[in-house]
Formats: sequence, C-alpha cells, structure tokens
Amino acid sequence: MSHTLYPLRKARLQRSELAVPASNPSMIDKAAEGPADYVFLDLEDAIAPSEKVQARKNTIQALNDIDWAAKGKTVSVRINGLDTHYMYRDVVDVMEQAGNRVHTLLVPKVGVTGDLYMVEAMVNQIEQAKGFTTRVGLEALIETALGMANVEAIAQFGGRLEALHFGVADFSASMRARTTNIGGLNPMYPGDQWHAAIARMVTACRAYGLRPIDGPFGDFSDPEGYKDGARRAAALGCEGKWAIHPSQVALANEVFSPPEAEVTKARRIIEALRAAEAQGKGAAQLDGRMIDAASEKMANNVLVVADAIAARG
Ligand code: GLV
Ligand code: MG
Repeated sequence: MSHTLYPLRKARLQRSELAVPASNPSMIDKAAEGPADYVFLDLEDAIAPSEKVQARKNTIQALNDIDWAAKGKTVSVRINGLDTHYMYRDVVDVMEQAGNRVHTLLVPKVGVTGDLYMVEAMVNQIEQAKGFTTRVGLEALIETALGMANVEAIAQFGGRLEALHFGVADFSASMRARTTNIGGLNPMYPGDQWHAAIARMVTACRAYGLRPIDGPFGDFSDPEGYKDGARRAAALGCEGKWAIHPSQVALANEVFSPPEAEVTKARRIIEALRAAEAQGKGAAQLDGRMIDAASEKMANNVLVVADAIAARG
C-alpha cells in the first residue's frame, strides 16, 4: 500500500438519485415522499429558459418547507452551468435563502478544476455572511470531453467535493458519438461504448476518495435495460445511478443493494479469515476457493453498504 491514502471524503447512501425538474412543485412533493435515497432539484437542462426564475423560487421553497433529512433523503440542487448567466444567481439565491437546508450542489459540465473553485469560493462567502453552521457539499458532473480529459485533476480538487457523476447524455453530445440514446447499449458497438469513460471516472473517484455515481438512462419503459446498465456501473464500482423517472428509483435501489446472499458470503469470508488468523495463517479456503486479506477488503465493502441501508431503515 502506498503511504499516500485518500480516504472517502463523505459517505452518503446514494443508490438512487431522482432527478426532479424544479419547475414542477407537485413532482417535488412526490419525490420527497418516494423511496429515493437522493433527490436533485434541477435548475439546469430540464428547465426551459422561461421557467428558470420560477424553478429557482420553487427550489428555495421546497428546501425550506420540506424536512428532507427527516424523510431519509439527501437533497441536492443542480445549478446551471458556469457558461450561463443563470449560474451565479442560482448559487446566490439558493445559498442565501436555503443554504442551511440543502445538502449538496451538483455542478454540471465541469471541465476544469477552476469551475469548482468558483462555486466553492461563492458558497464559502455566503455561508460565512449568513452565519450558517452547516457546510454544503459539492458534486460534479463529468459530461464533456474536457471534463473527462481532466477528470483526474478535477477529482483532486479537494474542498467540498464529494462525488462525481457520469452524465452520459451530454457526454455523448460532447464526444459527437453516433447515438441519440441516453445511456444503454448501442447496436453499432460490440459491448458498452461507455465502459472506458465510466471506468476512468470511477478510478479517479476511488483514487481520491469520492463517490462515483452513474447518470441517466432515458428509456423509462425499459426496466431491464435500466437494470443492465445499473449492474454494469455497480460492477465497475459506482455507488448508485440516476432515476429520470420515479419508476427507476426502485430499480436502482434493488441493483445497488447487496442481496442477502452477498452479505452472508461477506460475513463468512471475514469469519473464515479470523479463524485462519487464530491459527497464524493469512489465507484461508472458503467454498473451495482461496481467500486472503484482499477478500476481506472486498467483503467489508459489501458490509459497509449493507450497514448504511440498514441504518436508513
Ligand atoms: C446528465 O446531465 C447527462 O447529460 O447525462
Ligand atoms: Mg447533462
């Protein structure tokens, strides 16, 4: 093990993250009562320019009126991109009027670390000026060629950054990939065309202590396709996936919750290694397979998620 270690900066259960257009208060109310671990109130791409101001007002109201934490949820706000004139007002209004109620800001289309520096500087000043004792977290969407080209540097930003998300729709556009699908498999490509990109982002996250989250899957009438995509992301190390429709929340919760058999196996691995250790051995056999200290780390990863789910109730 290297002497340099970056522990996880912030643990949060994030199996399912429901995207909710903040222009629609009834959808916000429903999201608060639903089973998502995370909800993000969207001020960005799901909101037409003519609705931006009202969506911001709805967001502030929903943050102040609803006790999201009491409902077992993390609540996030996706602000507009730094290339728009909406962004500064999103940060100023949301943070000044509800900065002690929102858990994280999701910054879209991050291309360079300076994008996060700007948001961080603004929220530092606002929290200080308002005397908030809370500290909002930052999450970054990696969804442009520039963001992916800089993902290792972005992951090292530090500050309040705690998670990176893979935004497959904008990434497809930015890469000029031959598809108009949002996520899912492409008949033109043998395998998953996004494998390398997601794996790169997950590696950057795990190297620098961030949570990797997989983004949207557009076809909400294809639950099996959604689950396949979620399984591929989970296999690579993602902790959760977006739901762009409420029906996708249960699918994400299912895929990103270790099944009972996996949890039992993890406990048995640890028991077998403890027994081997008592006999002065580092490795052991379980069900005809060799296991060792690395197996214990893998098993612990499963148990950490299982414990977080149990704690949520
Ligand atoms: C999400 O914002 C995406 O572009 O996929
Ligand atoms: Mg996007």
